[in-house]
Parts: sequence; C-alpha cells; structure tokens
Amino acid sequence: MSGTETLLAELARLANGPLTAATAMPPGLYHDPEIFARERDKLFARGWLCPGLAAEIPKPGDYLSFSINDQPLFVIRGEGGIRAFANVCLHRMMRLVEGRGSCSRIVCPYHAWTYDTDGQLLAAAHMKRTPGFDPREHHLAEIRCEIWQGWIYVTLDPAAESLSRLLAPLEAMVAPYDMAGYLPIAEHDHVWNTNWKLLTENFMEGYHLPVTHRKTVGAWFPAEDTVFPAETSPGFTLQTFTKSEGATYGRAHPANTRLEGAQRYTSVMPTVFPSHMYVLAPDHLWYLSLRPKSVGEVHVRFGAALAPEVMASLNDPESFTADLVGFFDRVNAEDRVVVEGLYEGTGAPLAKPGRLSWLEREIHDFMGYLARGLSS
Ligand code: FES
Ligand SMILES: [Fe+2]
Repeated sequence: MSGTETLLAELARLANGPLTAATAMPPGLYHDPEIFARERDKLFARGWLCPGLAAEIPKPGDYLSFSINDQPLFVIRGEGGIRAFANVCLHRMMRLVEGRGSCSRIVCPYHAWTYDTDGQLLAAAHMKRTPGFDPREHHLAEIRCEIWQGWIYVTLDPAAESLSRLLAPLEAMVAPYDMAGYLPIAEHDHVWNTNWKLLTENFMEGYHLPVTHRKTVGAWFPAEDTVFPAETSPGFTLQTFTKSEGATYGRAHPANTRLEGAQRYTSVMPTVFPSHMYVLAPDHLWYLSLRPKSVGEVHVRFGAALAPEVMASLNDPESFTADLVGFFDRVNAEDRVVVEGLYEGTGAPLAKPGRLSWLEREIHDFMGYLARGLSS
C-alpha cells in the first residue's frame, strides 16, 4: 500500500469505529499532496460551496466573486434571481469581475465585451468583420446555484445531489431563527497558513473555547450544555450550545418574537460539508467558508450578520457593528494561532494522534464524510 492508501485505510478504520475509541486523524492526512489532490477532485469539485449570504447582494446587478479550485466564478442577482457564472470572458478568457460590486452590465476590462446580468453577451466592438459572429450565440458558462435559508451555494458538479435535499433534515432546526432575514454587516477574505481540515475541525468543537478563547467567547460557554442533535445527513453535521446569562452576544433581543423558551439563548452551529460553517445565534450570525489554496494554505471567507430587531434597536449601528466585528476579529485571531500551530504540530516527526472527547463528536462525523468522499 502507498503512504496515501495507508492514510485512507486508517481514516476509514477511525470513521467506522465508535467515537469513544477514536483518536485524532493521522497527521499525514494534513500534509500529503496526493490527499490534497483527491480533496480538490472529489470534495471541492463535487460539493456545494458557499460564497456568502443572498442578502450580501440584495439589488439587481449586485455580484460577488469566488473560486472553486482553479475555477473563478461570480454570483450575480439578475432580474430572475441569483445565478452563478464562470468568471471568464468568452473572448480571450480574461477574468471579468473582481471582489464585490454592482453593475447594470458586465463589461470585460480587456476589450469591453459586454454581458447582461443573465450572462448573455450583448455587444462586442470591432467584430463586424468577423464572419458569422453573432453575440446572441454567446452566453457565459453557468454553474449550479441554490439559495437555501438565505445562503448562496454553488457547485461545479452537474450531477451533485440537490442541496435542498441534502440539507432537508436541518431545515426545521434553523427555520425558527429566520436567518434569511438577518442583515449582513461584514465580509472579509483572508489566507491562513494551515491545512483547511484543521480549521474545519477547530470550528466543529467547543472543547477549545474556554481555553483558546478565554478572553472572548470562552467565558460564556457552558460546555456541558452542548447537544449533538440526531438530525445529520451525509451533507452536514451540527451541534447546539447555549449562551449563559450576561453574555454580551448570543441571546435573543426582547423584540424577537420568533424564538421561544431555550431557543432564545441557544445557538445552532452547522457544518455543511466540505467547508461552510456558521454560528446561528438568536441575535447574530457569523460564518466561515473555506477553500484550500494549497496543502498548507486556506482561503477563509468570514462574514457576519445581525438579526433585524437587533439592527432596528440600535441608536448607533456603526459603532455597534464595528464593536461586534472587532470582537469576531479577535476570536478569529485566537483561532488562527491554534490552527497554524496545529499545522506545524501535525507536520512534526514525533506527532502522534491522541484520543478524542465527547465534545469532539463532529470531528468523528467529519472523518466519516472524508472517508466516504475520498474513497469514492
Ligand atoms: S478578453 Fe474579454 S473582451 Fe477580450
Ligand atoms: Fe475557536
């Protein structure tokens, strides 16, 4: 067996055994180039990835760009809703848009071929002497896109199972929060020096919160209140946790009439495989969407949104959102230290995986997802 096959066999053994017997994944899984190539082909080229919230592009012509593996793409709100297109011009293949913005037409920055927001080529200058060239026959390559509970998801795989079917068991749990009505307040893109799976796993366990985040969210987290609901599917896993009284963020605003009882201080924390994760709290939402850049580098898209009654109650929304985003920046900086430290640790000759806690159940679920996805 090759080194890669040995790693996958060990992963399958851990995933197929119980959590109570499991250890962390073999360290080579975070560093092996062949594993990385398989992840690109089998997980990221086939899975559903999240560029952001639909509310980040609320008006016709609003767009945001993203990429999956080597495929740049953008999502844009047209007259008929949000669609996703290859971010590649149909002339000499220039990238069309960068970052985020709004436009009534998409104009290529190279020779100004011009497209409407539904990807149709409208005009191309100096093409009259090119026999048989008809702009109406040119349309940007379209990528599958589904909107689910306010999220935009895209996939490069024409045969992928419908996202709404994959996430159906999650719907009843998140629906009472009505996150599609949350109002975006920030989006940032970063590159961190770690393997993407180390950041995914870090998000999936609250075990580190009282330690790594003792200066921020850690103090509000009663670990024993963590619940791993039965609602899982091959497409996601999740946990719920509560925020103690006195927490600055994470409890329902008095004007919130959607949530009742314990829901008012409970957050739902799904991970939609491979790499979209969010904390849906009664008063706010924050998310991470990851795409690997290399074995040891990951693109991190971070975003945050506020429940509408929270936004409506603010006398000074700018300073409130600046404080909240600053708070999340500190939490993210705390996580960055550990996930980059994990990359160094897992690459060490003396690295040896240790046993897991009950609080790390989602890491075991993730092993199952990886074992299925990487072997198929
Ligand atoms: S490459 Fe886009 S107009 Fe030429
Ligand atoms: Fe963390």
